Amino acid sequence: MIIDVVLIVAAYLFGSISAAILTCRAMGLPDPRSEGSRNPGATNVLRVGNRLAAGITLGGDFIKGTIPVVIGVIAGAGPVTLALIGLAAFLGHLYPVFFRFEGGKGVATGLGVLLGWSWPALLLTIITWLAVAALFRYSSLAALVSFLLAPFFLAYFDQPQAIMLGMLGITLLTYWRHRGNLQSLLNGTEKKIGEKD
Ligand code: G3P
Repeated sequence: MIIDVVLIVAAYLFGSISAAILTCRAMGLPDPRSEGSRNPGATNVLRVGNRLAAGITLGGDFIKGTIPVVIGVIAGAGPVTLALIGLAAFLGHLYPVFFRFEGGKGVATGLGVLLGWSWPALLLTIITWLAVAALFRYSSLAALVSFLLAPFFLAYFDQPQAIMLGMLGITLLTYWRHRGNLQSLLNGTEKKIGEKD
Protein backbone atom coordinates (compact mmCIF):
# COMPACT_ATOMS: atom_id res chain seq x y z
CA MET A 1 0.00 0.00 0.00
CA ILE A 2 2.70 2.50 1.06
CA ILE A 3 4.79 1.51 -1.95
CA ASP A 4 1.80 2.14 -4.23
CA VAL A 5 1.36 5.67 -2.83
CA VAL A 6 5.10 6.34 -3.21
CA LEU A 7 4.99 5.17 -6.85
CA ILE A 8 1.96 7.37 -7.61
CA VAL A 9 3.43 10.49 -5.96
CA ALA A 10 6.82 9.88 -7.65
CA ALA A 11 5.02 9.53 -11.01
CA TYR A 12 3.33 12.92 -10.49
CA LEU A 13 6.66 14.57 -9.59
CA PHE A 14 8.37 12.97 -12.61
CA GLY A 15 5.55 14.08 -14.89
CA SER A 16 5.95 17.62 -13.55
CA ILE A 17 9.37 17.98 -15.24
CA SER A 18 8.64 19.99 -18.40
CA ALA A 19 10.81 18.85 -21.31
CA ALA A 20 9.65 21.82 -23.40
CA ILE A 21 10.62 24.50 -20.89
CA LEU A 22 13.95 22.89 -19.96
CA THR A 23 14.92 22.16 -23.58
CA CYS A 24 14.13 25.69 -24.74
CA ARG A 25 16.04 27.13 -21.77
CA ALA A 26 19.08 24.92 -22.47
CA MET A 27 19.08 25.75 -26.20
CA GLY A 28 18.55 29.48 -25.74
CA LEU A 29 15.14 29.40 -27.45
CA PRO A 30 12.07 31.47 -26.50
CA ASP A 31 9.99 30.20 -23.60
CA PRO A 32 7.16 28.19 -25.26
CA ARG A 33 4.78 29.51 -22.58
CA SER A 34 5.12 33.06 -23.87
CA GLU A 35 5.11 32.54 -27.67
CA GLY A 36 3.09 30.72 -30.33
CA SER A 37 0.18 28.84 -28.78
CA ARG A 38 1.87 29.40 -25.36
CA ASN A 39 1.73 25.65 -24.78
CA PRO A 40 4.84 23.95 -23.35
CA GLY A 41 4.70 21.00 -25.76
CA ALA A 42 6.54 19.62 -28.80
CA THR A 43 4.16 21.15 -31.38
CA ASN A 44 4.73 24.65 -30.01
CA VAL A 45 8.48 24.12 -29.57
CA LEU A 46 8.58 23.29 -33.30
CA ARG A 47 6.63 26.51 -33.92
CA VAL A 48 8.78 28.83 -31.77
CA GLY A 49 12.05 26.89 -31.93
CA ASN A 50 13.31 24.16 -34.22
CA ARG A 51 12.96 20.47 -35.10
CA LEU A 52 15.77 19.30 -32.81
CA ALA A 53 14.26 21.04 -29.77
CA ALA A 54 10.81 19.70 -30.69
CA GLY A 55 12.20 16.16 -31.04
CA ILE A 56 13.92 16.34 -27.65
CA THR A 57 10.70 17.71 -26.10
CA LEU A 58 8.63 14.95 -27.66
CA GLY A 59 11.05 12.25 -26.45
CA GLY A 60 11.39 13.74 -22.97
CA ASP A 61 7.66 14.18 -22.43
CA PHE A 62 7.03 10.69 -23.81
CA ILE A 63 9.46 8.80 -21.57
CA LYS A 64 8.35 10.61 -18.43
CA GLY A 65 5.01 8.87 -19.00
CA THR A 66 6.56 5.47 -19.72
CA ILE A 67 9.21 5.25 -16.99
CA PRO A 68 6.91 5.50 -13.92
CA VAL A 69 4.52 2.86 -15.35
CA VAL A 70 7.41 0.50 -16.18
CA ILE A 71 8.81 0.96 -12.65
CA GLY A 72 5.32 0.09 -11.35
CA VAL A 73 5.26 -3.07 -13.49
CA ILE A 74 8.72 -4.07 -12.19
CA ALA A 75 7.56 -3.41 -8.61
CA GLY A 76 4.64 -5.80 -9.19
CA ALA A 77 1.89 -3.17 -8.99
CA GLY A 78 -1.64 -4.29 -9.91
CA PRO A 79 -3.81 -2.74 -12.66
CA VAL A 80 -5.44 -0.14 -10.39
CA THR A 81 -2.08 1.15 -9.18
CA LEU A 82 -0.65 1.07 -12.72
CA ALA A 83 -3.67 3.08 -13.93
CA LEU A 84 -3.16 5.63 -11.11
CA ILE A 85 0.58 5.84 -11.79
CA GLY A 86 -0.10 6.63 -15.47
CA LEU A 87 -2.76 9.19 -14.57
CA ALA A 88 -0.43 10.79 -12.01
CA ALA A 89 2.42 11.18 -14.52
CA PHE A 90 -0.07 12.65 -17.01
CA LEU A 91 -1.47 15.07 -14.39
CA GLY A 92 2.10 16.08 -13.52
CA HIS A 93 2.56 17.17 -17.13
CA LEU A 94 -0.74 19.09 -17.18
CA TYR A 95 -0.38 20.64 -13.73
CA PRO A 96 3.35 20.60 -12.86
CA VAL A 97 4.24 21.43 -9.29
CA PHE A 98 7.62 22.79 -10.49
CA PHE A 99 6.07 25.28 -12.94
CA ARG A 100 3.21 26.91 -10.98
CA PHE A 101 0.84 24.16 -12.16
CA GLU A 102 0.91 25.58 -15.71
CA GLY A 103 1.72 22.63 -17.95
CA GLY A 104 1.02 21.24 -21.39
CA LYS A 105 -1.80 19.43 -23.15
CA GLY A 106 -0.53 15.93 -22.46
CA VAL A 107 -0.29 14.24 -25.85
CA ALA A 108 3.33 13.03 -25.72
CA THR A 109 3.07 12.05 -22.04
CA GLY A 110 -0.26 10.29 -22.63
CA LEU A 111 1.34 8.27 -25.43
CA GLY A 112 4.28 7.44 -23.16
CA VAL A 113 1.91 6.18 -20.46
CA LEU A 114 0.13 4.09 -23.08
CA LEU A 115 3.43 2.41 -23.98
CA GLY A 116 3.77 1.30 -20.35
CA TRP A 117 0.20 0.00 -20.33
CA SER A 118 0.00 -1.72 -23.72
CA TRP A 119 2.44 -1.33 -26.62
CA PRO A 120 -0.01 -2.73 -29.24
CA ALA A 121 -2.62 -0.13 -28.20
CA LEU A 122 0.08 2.54 -28.42
CA LEU A 123 0.99 1.36 -31.92
CA LEU A 124 -2.61 1.72 -33.15
CA THR A 125 -2.90 5.11 -31.44
CA ILE A 126 0.29 6.37 -33.11
CA ILE A 127 -0.82 5.02 -36.50
CA THR A 128 -4.10 6.94 -36.05
CA TRP A 129 -2.23 10.10 -35.03
CA LEU A 130 0.09 9.85 -38.06
CA ALA A 131 -2.78 9.16 -40.48
CA VAL A 132 -4.85 12.15 -39.28
CA ALA A 133 -1.77 14.41 -39.19
CA ALA A 134 -0.76 13.34 -42.72
CA LEU A 135 -4.28 13.98 -44.03
CA PHE A 136 -5.11 17.27 -42.29
CA ARG A 137 -1.76 18.64 -40.96
CA TYR A 138 -3.29 19.58 -37.59
CA SER A 139 -1.42 18.23 -34.54
CA SER A 140 -4.40 18.95 -32.27
CA LEU A 141 -6.90 17.12 -34.50
CA ALA A 142 -4.56 14.13 -34.73
CA ALA A 143 -4.38 14.06 -30.91
CA LEU A 144 -8.15 14.42 -30.46
CA VAL A 145 -9.00 11.61 -32.87
CA SER A 146 -6.28 9.20 -31.72
CA PHE A 147 -6.97 9.76 -27.99
CA LEU A 148 -10.68 9.22 -28.58
CA LEU A 149 -9.89 5.80 -30.03
CA ALA A 150 -7.19 4.81 -27.50
CA PRO A 151 -9.62 3.41 -24.85
CA PHE A 152 -11.18 1.22 -27.57
CA PHE A 153 -7.74 0.00 -28.65
CA LEU A 154 -7.05 -0.98 -25.01
CA ALA A 155 -10.37 -2.82 -24.89
CA TYR A 156 -9.52 -4.59 -28.15
CA PHE A 157 -6.29 -5.87 -26.58
CA ASP A 158 -8.16 -7.08 -23.47
CA GLN A 159 -6.59 -4.66 -21.02
CA PRO A 160 -7.98 -4.56 -17.45
CA GLN A 161 -10.92 -2.25 -16.78
CA ALA A 162 -8.79 -0.03 -14.50
CA ILE A 163 -6.37 0.68 -17.36
CA MET A 164 -9.23 1.47 -19.75
CA LEU A 165 -10.72 3.85 -17.16
CA GLY A 166 -7.27 5.42 -16.68
CA MET A 167 -7.09 6.03 -20.44
CA LEU A 168 -10.61 7.43 -20.45
CA GLY A 169 -9.48 9.92 -17.79
CA ILE A 170 -6.49 10.87 -19.96
CA THR A 171 -8.74 11.27 -23.02
CA LEU A 172 -11.21 13.51 -21.15
CA LEU A 173 -8.41 15.67 -19.76
CA THR A 174 -6.83 15.88 -23.22
CA TYR A 175 -10.11 17.18 -24.64
CA TRP A 176 -10.37 19.70 -21.79
CA ARG A 177 -6.83 20.97 -22.45
CA HIS A 178 -7.52 21.17 -26.21
CA ARG A 179 -10.78 23.13 -25.86
CA GLY A 180 -9.11 26.21 -27.39
CA ASN A 181 -7.76 24.11 -30.28
CA LEU A 182 -11.21 22.60 -30.80
CA GLN A 183 -12.67 26.10 -31.09
CA SER A 184 -9.91 27.14 -33.54
CA LEU A 185 -10.49 24.01 -35.62
CA LEU A 186 -14.18 24.87 -35.83
CA ASN A 187 -13.38 28.53 -36.68
CA GLY A 188 -10.80 27.49 -39.28
CA THR A 189 -8.05 29.43 -37.47
CA GLU A 190 -6.04 26.48 -36.11
CA LYS A 191 -2.36 26.54 -37.13
CA LYS A 192 -1.08 23.60 -39.16
CA ILE A 193 1.99 21.60 -38.04
CA GLY A 194 5.10 23.81 -38.26
CA GLU A 195 3.06 26.87 -39.31
CA LYS A 196 4.35 30.04 -37.61
CA ASP A 197 2.20 32.89 -36.32
O1 G3P B 1 0.29 18.26 -28.51
C1 G3P B 1 -0.30 19.51 -28.44
C2 G3P B 1 -1.04 19.74 -29.70
O2 G3P B 1 -2.08 18.80 -29.82
C3 G3P B 1 -1.55 21.12 -29.86
O3 G3P B 1 -0.51 22.03 -29.56
O4 G3P B 1 0.65 24.19 -29.54
O5 G3P B 1 -0.88 23.62 -31.44
O6 G3P B 1 -1.83 24.12 -29.19
P1 G3P B 1 -0.65 23.58 -29.94
